[in-house]
Amino acid sequence: METPPNLNRLHQFVCELTGICHQETRGQRLIHQIKPRLQALLAHDDWLSPTLARPDPQRYQQYLLYADPMGSFSLVSFVWGPGQRTPVHDHQVWGVIGMLRGAELNQPYRLDNNGTPRPHGAPQRLNRGDVVSFLPEQGDIHQVSNALDNATSVSIHVYGGDIGATERHLWLEDGTRQPFVSGYSAQQEIH
Ligand SMILES: [Fe+2]
Repeated sequence: METPPNLNRLHQFVCELTGICHQETRGQRLIHQIKPRLQALLAHDDWLSPTLARPDPQRYQQYLLYADPMGSFSLVSFVWGPGQRTPVHDHQVWGVIGMLRGAELNQPYRLDNNGTPRPHGAPQRLNRGDVVSFLPEQGDIHQVSNALDNATSVSIHVYGGDIGATERHLWLEDGTRQPFVSGYSAQQEIH
């Protein structure tokens, strides 16, 4: 029989996030406080329910773990099957991302004078335990993919709002910009 997930770790992290996000609104300061706490959460891999780490053969999954009732943050698991990737997209809110299992590639983009996204620098590889962040005012357009072609990868994301309901943008292969509201793959785990 499988050991049940250690939800105490997740509950503690959510409590910490709630305290931080209800006292501070400046993105850079929030990120500075959240990063070490996410790193501490990622030091253990015994707390995520298997249903929230389940890949789908068709596309990457975005499971809501928790949405702050005040709307100040959301916590999401991204699950990447082999070869899966996001479209090029933005966020409109700050974000902190950490790798729980496997690895992913994060390719930053910048808009050229015509508003077409162009790769900006080399893709960044996130390995287990790595944590990165972004702020919209510093450029938050990117494309993320599973770095592994033979295994599932899982990353944990904290966003400065209800990311599944946030109106943002994606760019098609031809550079056309489209409105984008991502939604979630499943409902929240913590009630
Ligand atoms: Fe993203």
